[in-house]
Amino acid sequence: MVNIAIMGHGFIGSGVVEVLTKNHDHIAAKAKEEINIKYILDIRDFDDLPYSDKFIKDFSVIENDDSIKIVVEVMGGTEPAYSFVKACLLKGKSVVTSNKELVAAKGAELLQIAEENNVNFLFEGSVGGGIPILRPIAQCLAANDILEIVGILNGTTNFILTKMTDDGMEFEEALELAQHLGYAERDPSADVDGHDACRKICILASIAFGKHVYPNQVKTEGIRKITLEDFAYAVGAGYTVKLLGRTKLLDSGKVIATVGPCFVDHTSPLANVNDVFNSVLVRGDAIGDVSFYGRGAGKLPTASAVVADVIDCVKHLSARKYLFWAEGSDDYVQSADGEAVKMYVRLTSENKLMGQIIAEKFQGAQMLSRENQPDNEFAFITPKLKKYIIEDTLADMKDITIIGKMHILE
Ligand code: HSE
Repeated sequence: MVNIAIMGHGFIGSGVVEVLTKNHDHIAAKAKEEINIKYILDIRDFDDLPYSDKFIKDFSVIENDDSIKIVVEVMGGTEPAYSFVKACLLKGKSVVTSNKELVAAKGAELLQIAEENNVNFLFEGSVGGGIPILRPIAQCLAANDILEIVGILNGTTNFILTKMTDDGMEFEEALELAQHLGYAERDPSADVDGHDACRKICILASIAFGKHVYPNQVKTEGIRKITLEDFAYAVGAGYTVKLLGRTKLLDSGKVIATVGPCFVDHTSPLANVNDVFNSVLVRGDAIGDVSFYGRGAGKLPTASAVVADVIDCVKHLSARKYLFWAEGSDDYVQSADGEAVKMYVRLTSENKLMGQIIAEKFQGAQMLSRENQPDNEFAFITPKLKKYIIEDTLADMKDITIIGKMHILE
């Protein structure tokens, strides 16, 4: 029998208990050991549960109990999660977490501590909920040099964007529905402002390229500014709008990493990923493109990834799974402004000649239209140019107010 402790009994933590309890026998058969939840750490009281006797409020009980070999951290946030996880690893306990904020901020350091203490630090549930993605990148695609990753990494925003395009819902109404269904994070800005997707692309980039990409190095934009009018232009031109996390290895060995809303061609596999589903496309030098798809949010999908990591830890109690990346550096993540891209631009101007001016400034631009388009509104897709050239050209244009701007995924 292997004793484990679970730190946090919120949305995911209660799901982990549920999966471990409901599938107890079958999990024991897979792990070849019975898994016993000895403690559940939470500051709140849970007096009415059949397993209320397992709750504790004092972390040192877990830290100092040598019979606890594996600790599940599902508290969220960086503190006290970071201090607790570090203390557990230093005490020779393997740790499993779904806490993307923690891994995106401290992954390299915690992996190093795990290695020094010959224990495992696993976090499959931190990206893509129940979709197996980190283990495939680290193990199954190990023969490849990963060149690029692009993905729909946040279920809540994908749900909101789907409701906007399919049902014509305004952003606020769709967000309320997502919160009501329990998809959104406690603070919806983590979802809608792109921070959650940013943390996930940091983890993917770090694992794929072997060096830590930190959240403050990723240019991040959310979906608050997207309107039904943007969708009308996108759909009219054969696109839809998705919030994408992207990371790419440059020839210099450095990387770019961004999060932002993009126009996605309706024939792209990403265009048809709807509701709370996530999808990640990985490009490797040997395998070409591989895609991963599934439920990226939710209690049981994420709990299933966490429990799979627990089983993996049980099977590797005296061995380390190879999972490692080095600390990052200031100049490792490069600006995406040097990338050649096409961009969607929507602006207003009272200048009646603005259509001509756009055609002159952006030769080959594709003008877009929508129903009920006001006379002073202009929307277009630029030719492929370095992003900073597009930005500089727009900055030089007089008498315009830019109200929408998005990268076109190619
Ligand atoms: N709020 C997150 C999402 C949960 O919507 O994707 C999973 O990380």
